[in-house]
Amino acid sequence: MRIGIVGATGIVGRELVSLLATSKLKATELRLSATTRSVGKKVATHLGEQNIAELNVGFFSGLDLCFFCVSGGVSETWVPVAKAEKVLCIDNSSRYRMEADVPLVVPEVNGELLRGQPQIIANPNCIVSPLTVALNPIQLKFGLEDLCISTYQSVSGAGHEAMAQLETELTNYPGRLSQGQGQFLLNIIACIGSCDSRGHSQEEMKIIQETRKILDLPALPMAVTAVRVPVKRSHCQAVTFITKCRTSAEEIRQVLSAGDVRVSDVAPQPIAVQGTNQVYVGRIRENREHRPRSYSFWLAADNLRKGAALNALSIAEHWWALQ
Ligand SMILES: NC(=O)c1ccc[n+]([C@@H]2O[C@H](COP(=O)([O-])OP(=O)(O)OC[C@H]3O[C@@H](n4cnc5c(N)ncnc54)[C@H](OP(=O)(O)O)[C@@H]3O)[C@@H](O)[C@H]2O)c1
Repeated sequence: MRIGIVGATGIVGRELVSLLATSKLKATELRLSATTRSVGKKVATHLGEQNIAELNVGFFSGLDLCFFCVSGGVSETWVPVAKAEKVLCIDNSSRYRMEADVPLVVPEVNGELLRGQPQIIANPNCIVSPLTVALNPIQLKFGLEDLCISTYQSVSGAGHEAMAQLETELTNYPGRLSQGQGQFLLNIIACIGSCDSRGHSQEEMKIIQETRKILDLPALPMAVTAVRVPVKRSHCQAVTFITKCRTSAEEIRQVLSAGDVRVSDVAPQPIAVQGTNQVYVGRIRENREHRPRSYSFWLAADNLRKGAALNALSIAEHWWALQ
């Protein structure tokens, strides 16, 4: 299979290059691209060293599949070009996620959407893929009436420039830290992206809209607070939900353990889950001081794996298996 990656020098693109080495997708050719600044740079891949190529119409010619690991604006320019070349496009940006005719896919949850032979497939937000993996079996068995989430998102979720900023702050510490409002080290930023007139951040609205779309619950009441924390990699979530049917913390634990989630008594920590492929859930409990049928758990997953590159690759593997 001939595979392209646009944004191959970014934090998600690099993770994808490395995951392709052990993928069920057998790449016979790997074409990599980024900005003109990066053209000619060499990237180590399982097919040997590849040069970053210029991004133009010719880049897509003859590809079977292309991953887009770039911003929404860049995807908006180049996904239609790739589509016109009959290349399957798997887009990591938010640009196409809420388009009615574009499936937003977490294979364990709604992989059947790939049977429709879409030409553009959207990969969800880094919070939403792990979250829906955990919530889907609960929704199927007990029903979800209400959902409330607070996120604890690592700096790698903001891309390679943010990671470089954190490295600089770490190098300078304990000297002067002059990043002000945007400082990552020793700080918490409780607004990811700009806020709308009602006070919701862009990240919070993405999490709400995408979770509803994937779980096929368009009216699910949701409240989200999305927060950046001074952690390099892996995102955590405090998840509270009300079920429709009466259940127990133990039954929720059993349902999650039977599925695609690693369950533990303790809260999984970002440092322990980085570089792994699973979704981890711990501290499942009934909120006896809240409302009937109210439960909480703590979730952790690697934002660059299940939250981004791994889910994109898994979409491609499922799509290929259906060909
Ligand atoms: N990081 C995460 O945890 C995560 C999770 C889920 C989804 N996503 C989404 O995935 C996408 C990539 O995120 P990231 O974190 O990997 O960002 P990143 O580290 O900032 O990487 C951005 C990539 O895009 C390339 N690029 C920028 N402008 C371009 C242009 N005009 N033409 C071609 N290539 C261009 C960059 O190339 P240069 O190196 O040459 O500048 C780089 O390869 C974003 O849409 C992001 O929202 C990220």
